[in-house]
Amino acid sequence: FEVYGRGLGGERPALPTTFDGLQERAREQLSDAAYGYVAGGAGEERTMRANRAAFDRHRLVPRMLGEVGQRDLTTTVCDTTLNAPVVLGPVGVLSIVHPEGELAVARAANELGVASCLSNAASTTLEDVATATPDAPRWFQLYPPNDPEVRRSLVARAEAAGNEAIVVTLDTLTMPWRPRDIAQAYLPFLLGEGIANYTADPVFRSKLAEPPEESPQLAIQQWAQTFPNPQMSWDDLAALRSETGLPLLVKGILHPDDARRAVELGIDGIVVSNHGGRQVDGSVASLDQLPAIVDAVPASVPVLLDSGVRTGSDVLKAIALGARAVLIARPYVWGLALAGQDGVREVVRSLLADLDLSLAMCGCSSLAQVDGDLLVPAPGA
Ligand code: FNR
Repeated sequence: FEVYGRGLGGERPALPTTFDGLQERAREQLSDAAYGYVAGGAGEERTMRANRAAFDRHRLVPRMLGEVGQRDLTTTVCDTTLNAPVVLGPVGVLSIVHPEGELAVARAANELGVASCLSNAASTTLEDVATATPDAPRWFQLYPPNDPEVRRSLVARAEAAGNEAIVVTLDTLTMPWRPRDIAQAYLPFLLGEGIANYTADPVFRSKLAEPPEESPQLAIQQWAQTFPNPQMSWDDLAALRSETGLPLLVKGILHPDDARRAVELGIDGIVVSNHGGRQVDGSVASLDQLPAIVDAVPASVPVLLDSGVRTGSDVLKAIALGARAVLIARPYVWGLALAGQDGVREVVRSLLADLDLSLAMCGCSSLAQVDGDLLVPAPGA
């Protein structure tokens, strides 16, 4: 009634209440380059579509009279209690879509008390984001740079800034084939934005011939040389594991054997993800791989999922298939693009309200009650 009651006062939501509506409005407002950067995927964007189709192959079977007056959306990931099973996933260079970029996201996450994960490729430093998110769980995402000194420096800063986990993304060891970004000359476009965590990093700076403030071009070139790491090995992952006492999650896992191997190395959590369909066109939908990966790792290892989560029922389906929590990206980025901090808050609040209501109407009062019994395959699936 909080949601619907607003209409009694003639008040309408400031933003569209569906993902497609948000994306459409953002397309009208953003430059083609900024819109293409967020909306786009790899190749012909088949995996982006496959991510959505995978959710449609499962249907929920609501149960009645579950006594759902009090509901609990909390979950636990690596000893951190999350108020809701939704994490704002890492997105690079958000200044492309809004001048307040990651700071606006961090403030909205803080207001709502939801967890967020900052990209190492953010346009704001992790220290500034930490200041903006004092009251909500915060994780730091790393594209493991090919220079181990820079890697160690970033990890040490993330620890010092009070992050509760490091998320290392393994599916982006080189730039992917993204036609929209290639057409829009993405790297030169980045020049105006800068990669703050690197340009502020003392070790990274020490490798530059000139300070990044004086030569942004050189700084971006150096970043573009430090970023690709296709030679990275399981031994390198083990080295990273030994370099931090924080919980370490791997993101971008799609094969159960990779999940097993990561756990053998001492990794604390798995994010099943195809990066929102942005990496390998034609690759498998994240949701389709979730059950096998949940089966492959011990129950004590949290498995999270992203790529294509748009609604409360999507979150329920992921949880029913064994996810401890989900990450979202494009939905909150459209909120940011349209209305900054308020936009992020509205989009995330709406998703959480949808989740809460859907949970109740499925007859569950906590996420622990959401399991495979709640799902059937869609006819023909
Ligand atoms: C991303 N993603 C991402 N992931 C990551 O580990 N580091 C990063 O810097 C980025 N950057 C990034 C930029 C943009 C514009 C998008 C859309 C995505 C991937 C992101 O964290 C997540 O895996 C997917 O985007 C989730 O899918 P949805 O919710 O966007 O469908």
